[in-house]
Amino acid sequence: MSSDSSLQSAAVINEAVQTLRDGGLVAFPTETVYGLGADAKNSEAIKKIFVAKGRPSNHPLIVHLAAPDRFDQTHVDWVPILSSWARDVSEEALKLINTFWPGPLTLVFKKDKSVLTDLTGGQDTVAIRAPAHPIAQELLRKFKGGVVAPSANRFGKVSPTSASDVRHEFEGMLDLMILDGGDCEVGIESTIIDLSSGDKAILLRPGAITPSEIFAKTGIKVYLPGDLKANEPTEDLPKVSGSLKAHYAPTTPLRLYAPGRILDALSEFPDIKSRVAVAVWDSESSLSEDGHPSAHFEEVEVPSDSSAFASRLYRSLRDLDQQGWDLILFPEPPAGEEWDGVRDRLQRACFGSGPSSSSHVSS
Ligand code: TXA
Ligand code: MG
Repeated sequence: MSSDSSLQSAAVINEAVQTLRDGGLVAFPTETVYGLGADAKNSEAIKKIFVAKGRPSNHPLIVHLAAPDRFDQTHVDWVPILSSWARDVSEEALKLINTFWPGPLTLVFKKDKSVLTDLTGGQDTVAIRAPAHPIAQELLRKFKGGVVAPSANRFGKVSPTSASDVRHEFEGMLDLMILDGGDCEVGIESTIIDLSSGDKAILLRPGAITPSEIFAKTGIKVYLPGDLKANEPTEDLPKVSGSLKAHYAPTTPLRLYAPGRILDALSEFPDIKSRVAVAVWDSESSLSEDGHPSAHFEEVEVPSDSSAFASRLYRSLRDLDQQGWDLILFPEPPAGEEWDGVRDRLQRACFGSGPSSSSHVSS
């Protein structure tokens, strides 16, 4: 891991713990993205998160947990830890937990009655994850409780993968304590699996941990919501806010191009004559073979390995968004499940991108 808890002293972590106990907000690093944390048992603190993010109150939050020090961290018994949060934790659930926690996997359970509905968006389920980042773990262990933490960005915007991204996101709005844990290694949000229906595991958000990896390591089949059309839940609550079509969006227009089809992507923007940033695979020599139009293109290399791509995706989108381009073009991710997480984020980012993205997102 590129960062460790030595980046933050014990005194700073203690101050963060006190801030959480006092009902304040603390931004902290996880291996996926930075989270905006609050005490999961304090409804006033939870409300502050929704206000700070500009997030509709029916969009549920993830509860973050860590095993207390008394557990041998390699053989944690999660049953007693989960008992005050989740009901009906099945053998399958424990298999997933023992295989992938701590790590970028969020599981949705029926909630214990003590879990505040302020954090579940009024639903009777609760999403839980145990982050792997050492600073997140130290914070959670010392806090000795659950911390709700959405990604530390304004609603619909690009998630932060460094402490300075978080600072930038809330500058002038919120005097926020931010724990610095360096750059996030995974770079996109956790995979979310819904176990609350009791029989089937359903993928709600793709991430670094894929259904095939889950099947290979546990034998558990993960269904896609599309596989279950007939039984799909009818309530119209947005179970996953990232499932809105527009999300993770930069202010600069962003589009994807198919291999060799840059000019097609550009044709949607006939007025753009200059200042186009084009991401190209690092495995490919150069765009020039595609034939450059008159526009001033600047090529930015992006990794052709899916994990490396994910790790840098939000960083690149943020950096490019600050550079004053008229248009940003990204290559369409190749087919293959290992690309599903980044494909999902890129497609939503395209849909919500552009100067009017905020009205897009709230519609
Ligand atoms: O990697 C992550 O999961 C990051 C880090 C900070 O842990 N957190 C994160 O939180 O992405 P947020 O709030 O940006 O996204 C949480 C997602 C939302 O899309 C929400 O709808 C979904 O989790 N979620 C939360 N509770 C749920 C529930 N009870 N049922 C279904 N989905 C739920
Ligand atoms: Mg988010």
